[in-house]
Amino acid sequence: MIKPIDPNSMNQTAASKPAVEKPALDRRALDRRALDRRVALVTGGIGGLGSEICRQLALAGREVVAVDLAARGERAAAFHEEVASFGGSIRFEPADVSDFDSCQQLIARIEQQHGSVDILVNAAGITRDASLRKMSPQQWHELMRVNLDGVFNMCRNVVDGMTERGFGRIVNISSVNGQTGQFGQTNYSAAKAGVHGFSMALARETARKGVTVNTVSPGYCDTPMVAAVSAEIRAQIIADIPVGRLGAPADIARAVKFLAADDAGYITGANLPVNGGYFMSF
Ligand code: CAA
Repeated sequence: MIKPIDPNSMNQTAASKPAVEKPALDRRALDRRALDRRVALVTGGIGGLGSEICRQLALAGREVVAVDLAARGERAAAFHEEVASFGGSIRFEPADVSDFDSCQQLIARIEQQHGSVDILVNAAGITRDASLRKMSPQQWHELMRVNLDGVFNMCRNVVDGMTERGFGRIVNISSVNGQTGQFGQTNYSAAKAGVHGFSMALARETARKGVTVNTVSPGYCDTPMVAAVSAEIRAQIIADIPVGRLGAPADIARAVKFLAADDAGYITGANLPVNGGYFMSF
């Protein structure tokens, strides 16, 4: 058994102990930290994963702007109630990520109000599941416009400001189904694989400017998107997850928060899988 240490039995008494030298307070570092109040923008911000990402970033001290479609009025009202306790550090801005002009105006508004967009999380995403033989061009294009064009539209409008200021964190939400392909998801799998290709290319372009670009690839999570899959298929999927459960939105948000941190500057062009072991690779 390990004996507890008796402080009186130690060689030096408290009185004779040399005073522990405290490192001098670095005032300039503290001032810099105060100036470093980062503004984070989360698309799909009131959705299944996005709303939890907003909460986790706010808990990490970020000023968060949740971006989502203006049309999601009821959900927006519920979201306002959910985040009321965050004392104004999470607010909502309407925009359509599939529309370049809408994104341009959004970024201009936020930069004017907050001074910058320092962290961008692209979490807006939809499914239009159908086997390819049954997939309409509309199902293909609708999905591409949100899941892939949306990432371009947002990144294109924040990248100049981030590189000029010499700091940025971009986290794009990809998917395990972009890594493996999923029956009934040629559109979604293509877009999500595309999101990671896009992120690696942009990571190279911005690496010298203090801007990192990474993806997080969630597995099947407890969200309305996954709830829409038939119960039979969902049960089969859960049976194949080594951890034995769906992911929680907080599991994903924690990974996003990690990559969005100021001191995550040496991780770029990476994909962080958060899938309960559903797909393992090296
Ligand atoms: N795997 C293998 N075979 C399948 C299958 C599957 N997942 N789904 C259907 N089939 C088979 C059927 O058994 C049937 O076979 P027979 O013709 O021999 O009877 C045939 O394919 C039917 O083909 P259909 O084109 O008619 O397919 P369907 O209309 O029945 O089903 C689908 C298509 C609704 C898309 C269905 O495949 C499905 O729900 N797939 C899963 C989609 C999915 O996982 N979506 C994830 C959404 S959540 C998400 O995307 C978040 C994330 O990032 C993880």
